[in-house]
Amino acid sequence: MKVLVTGGAGYIGSVVAQQLLAQGHEVTVLDNLSTGHQESVLTGVAWHQGDISEAAEVLDSSFDTIIHLAAKSLVAESMKHPERYWHGNVVASLGLIEAARAANVPRFIFSSTAAVYGNPVTDLISEDHPTAPINPYGASKLAIDHMLAAEAAAHGLAAVSLRYFNVGGASGSLREQHDPETHLIPNLLKVATGESPHAQLFGTDYPTADGTAVRDYIHIKDLARAHLLAMEWAKPGTHEIFNLGTGVGSSVREVLDTARTVTGRQIPVIEQPRRAGDPAVLVASGQKAAETLGWVPEYSLENIIADAWTALPDSD
Ligand SMILES: NC(=O)c1ccc[n+]([C@@H]2O[C@H](COP(=O)([O-])OP(=O)(O)OC[C@H]3O[C@@H](n4cnc5c(N)ncnc54)[C@H](O)[C@@H]3O)[C@@H](O)[C@H]2O)c1
Repeated sequence: MKVLVTGGAGYIGSVVAQQLLAQGHEVTVLDNLSTGHQESVLTGVAWHQGDISEAAEVLDSSFDTIIHLAAKSLVAESMKHPERYWHGNVVASLGLIEAARAANVPRFIFSSTAAVYGNPVTDLISEDHPTAPINPYGASKLAIDHMLAAEAAAHGLAAVSLRYFNVGGASGSLREQHDPETHLIPNLLKVATGESPHAQLFGTDYPTADGTAVRDYIHIKDLARAHLLAMEWAKPGTHEIFNLGTGVGSSVREVLDTARTVTGRQIPVIEQPRRAGDPAVLVASGQKAAETLGWVPEYSLENIIADAWTALPDSD
C-alpha cells in the first residue's frame, strides 16, 4: 500500500514507518519537526518537512492509507494553553480528514489515547468504558474520534482509532526523545545514565499492592504492529476503536525494580505526593484487538526497558 504517515519523525511514527517499509509498503512522511527528529526520518521514505495543514499538497488518489500520529500531546500544556490543542489537534485533523476526502484516500488510522476515558470507573478498560476526558488533550483526541466516526458514516471512510496506554522501549536506534520527557521509563533511564541525579515517584499511598500507581506498558514494536494490522483490516464506512493494552499492569515500583535490574544501576528516587488527576490503576483490555485484528503483544516489561536502555547512546 502507499501510506502517508503524519508525525513519522516522532517516537511512534518513526517505528510505524520502519515496519511499513520492512513489509514492502511505500511510505511518505509528513512532519513539521516541532517535536520530531530529523535523524528518525528513515532512508527509503518520501520525506516532506511540513505541517499537516499542507497535506493536500502531498496527497493524491494514489495513496491507500493515512496513519495520523502528528499531534500535540502534553497534558499539562493542554491545561495551560487549550487553544493550542483545539488548533493543533482538532482543527488540523479536520483539515487532514478533508484533504483525505478530496484525494479519495480510502483508509485512515488514528492515534487516540487512554486520556479520552478520563478517570476510569473500572480497573480493566475496554472500548465501551465511558469517555469523559479530564483535560483538553484528551478532549481534542476524542473530538477527532467523533469526526472519524461521522466521516465513515457520511462519506464511506474506513477509519480506525487506536487508543494507546503506556508505550515504551525502542526499535533499534529509534527511541523515545520527548522534551520535556513526562514518561516514567525514559526518566528512570536518564538517572541510570547519570543525566539526572534522581527520578520522582509520585504517590506511594494508592490502593494498590505496593502503594504506587499501576499502568499497562506496551512495547513500541508491538504498538506499531497494531497500525499495520488495523490498516489491513479497516472496512469502508466503519469507524472502529481498539484499546492497545496487555490487560496486565505494572506498578511504578515494579518498573523501577526492573530498570535497576536491567541497567545494573541504583536509580535513586524521591518520593512525592500523588499528582492531581493520576488514577491508581490504568490497564487496558486488549481483547477486542486480539479477537478482531489478531494483535497480541509479544514483549515483556523487561524487554521494553532493556531495548530502551540499549538504544541510549550513553548506556555503556
Ligand atoms: N507516547 C505515548 O505514550 C502516547 C500515548 C498515547 C497517545 N499518543 C499519541 O501518539 C502520537 C505520537 O506520539 P509520540 O509519542 O510519537 O510523539 P512525538 O512528539 O514523538 O511525535 C509526534 C510527531 O508529530 C509531529 N507533529 C506534531 N504536530 C505536527 C503538525 N501540526 N504537523 C506536522 N507534524 C507535526 C512532531 O514533529 C513529531 O515528530 C500522538 O498523536 C500522541 O498523542 C502517544
